[in-house]
Amino acid sequence: MNQKIIIAIDGYSSSGKSTLAKAISKKFKYKYIDSGSLYRTIALIAIRKKIFDSDLWNIRNFIPILKEMSLKFKWNQKSNQIDIFLNGENIQQKIRSEQVENKVSLIAQIPEIREKLTLMQRNIGKNKGIVIDGRDIGNYVFPKSELKIFMKGSIEIRSYRRYLDLKKRGEEVSYEEVRKNLIHRDIMDISRNISPLKKSVDSIEIDNTFLSIEEQLNLIFKFIKNKRKK
Ligand code: DC
Repeated sequence: MNQKIIIAIDGYSSSGKSTLAKAISKKFKYKYIDSGSLYRTIALIAIRKKIFDSDLWNIRNFIPILKEMSLKFKWNQKSNQIDIFLNGENIQQKIRSEQVENKVSLIAQIPEIREKLTLMQRNIGKNKGIVIDGRDIGNYVFPKSELKIFMKGSIEIRSYRRYLDLKKRGEEVSYEEVRKNLIHRDIMDISRNISPLKKSVDSIEIDNTFLSIEEQLNLIFKFIKNKRKK
């Protein structure tokens, strides 16, 4: 009874994965792992090291730089989530910027980086009792996860949610910019050679264009309770 399981949530950018994951982690006292934040961290390092501005942008030049960095994860009891520290600096807010968002898809295409981050996620989740969101979790990182959810929503609703989010953080962006960025990220996510975003056959699909968070949770909680009894 109440065995610990892995809940994998994949889906499009700004489709509400983290909102759902956080609510599930709170209800079932599961740890929440936001795998996108790992890719964002690497993108932030690349920006700070001006990798994208140089002609030298290639993996051979970038990977050794990563080895010099100290990355630490600390469970934040209050948010039930990991805080990421880069050389001692808490970068939780910085990795959410529009600047990072514009570059992160490029980082997510690099096989060596995906490989390292996949191992990191498997290590963090080895004791189960986690809810983890991303793009390749159900298909690749945790293919045996007990519950897989795939999330989508119209481009308009996702752009609007993201726009409001960035505004709240004080970022100067227009709705149109956000929409373009999301379309670009969707294309990069689904057309990537390695671990592209793809609904796995054994996942539950949620299209939340017209669904409230309560409606989504009511549905998902039933599935989780069922899975944990087995
Ligand atoms: O979920 P997010 O928007 O924070 O993800 C940031 C980027 O990282 C996004 O462009 C896709 C990529 N990503 C990925 O390729 N694989 C994952 N498991 C999670 C995120």
